[in-house]
Amino acid sequence: MKTRLYRIEELNQSHVQEDIKNTLLSGKLVVFPTETVYGIGAHALDEKGIKRIYAVKGRPSDNPLIMHVSHTQDVFLYTKNHQPYVSKLMEAFWPGPLTMVFEKKDHVPLIITGGLNTVGIRIPSNIAALKIIDIAGVPICAPSANISGRPSSTQFSHVLNDFKDRVDIIIDGGKTEVGLESTVVDVTGPVPVILRPGVITKDMIVAVTKQVMIKQEVSDQEVSKAPGMKYKHYAPKGKMMIVDGAQQDVINFINQHIEKHNKNNQSVGVIVTNDLINCFKKAIVLSLGDPKHEQEIASNLFAVLRQMDEENIEYIYSLSFHQGVYGEAIMNRLMKAANNHIIHL
Ligand code: TXA
Ligand code: MG
Repeated sequence: MKTRLYRIEELNQSHVQEDIKNTLLSGKLVVFPTETVYGIGAHALDEKGIKRIYAVKGRPSDNPLIMHVSHTQDVFLYTKNHQPYVSKLMEAFWPGPLTMVFEKKDHVPLIITGGLNTVGIRIPSNIAALKIIDIAGVPICAPSANISGRPSSTQFSHVLNDFKDRVDIIIDGGKTEVGLESTVVDVTGPVPVILRPGVITKDMIVAVTKQVMIKQEVSDQEVSKAPGMKYKHYAPKGKMMIVDGAQQDVINFINQHIEKHNKNNQSVGVIVTNDLINCFKKAIVLSLGDPKHEQEIASNLFAVLRQMDEENIEYIYSLSFHQGVYGEAIMNRLMKAANNHIIHL
């Protein structure tokens, strides 16, 4: 298969629109940018397309997909029994990086929900994403456009790397703005529950709903509510460790380990912010950006993880990022990338 590549400016051309529509309506795949990460999209109500998504990503079939729509009223076509606070969340955060998990109506296929009786839906704010949903005229299921278990795609080059000539169409939307996937919130109960943290934070949600949030701590029994939790995520090829502690201690610790790896002829990478870029010798040092700009750090995270793979790094050390509004979301992705391997000095 030869992938057809379009730039977002070309979405106004009628032959491009025709191609996208025909592709999606015939159960084939279109990779497109959203404001969070790139998504790999298929007609949400067509089993053929959905099966293709799972196959091309190598995704476990019990990990449900997010349905993307362009208007709030579409949500009511697919979901039922809405809690009173839901309309407040829609108004405050849509279009935008918030996915809500609702009770699904019977006609929503179980293949997209991983067999659950709930469905995750969001209205993205990215103009190209909204345009593609409108061109198709149907809801679009789109998980993050990465091979299952690997870092999500936040740049056109990432999706080319993972999916060129494996999907029909890829839309080049440059670098995505947010860089971390949407916040996923279960809204089926009397109180919303965060299943995946993101840039729409717990505090922001509480401010709108005025309800106490249950902190997300998924026990084994609860894993069935959030099937995505049990799988490996965002993992670079190298072995990764997060180092947490006073700045000088962290620098010393990592430098000692670099020394040790160098002696053993092992390649080492360090994930830092701009201020610490010159503190490490004899390692590949990649910066997430200005430590004061959380948005920049969030948006560079997956690109830096992917770059570690390109450099064939065997051992990766990362600073920790607890602080600020995005701290929880950034740490959530880092911890998964590191398979929960963190050392507190
Ligand atoms: O920002 C995003 O959400 C991106 C863009 C493309 O929209 N999409 C994305 O999809 O991150 P994906 O499939 O990579 O992650 C969806 C997450 C998974 O952890 C999945 O388990 C969870 O949402 N999810 C989806 N539907 C669910 C449901 N009905 N119940 C519980 N969790 C659900
Ligand atoms: Mg994903």
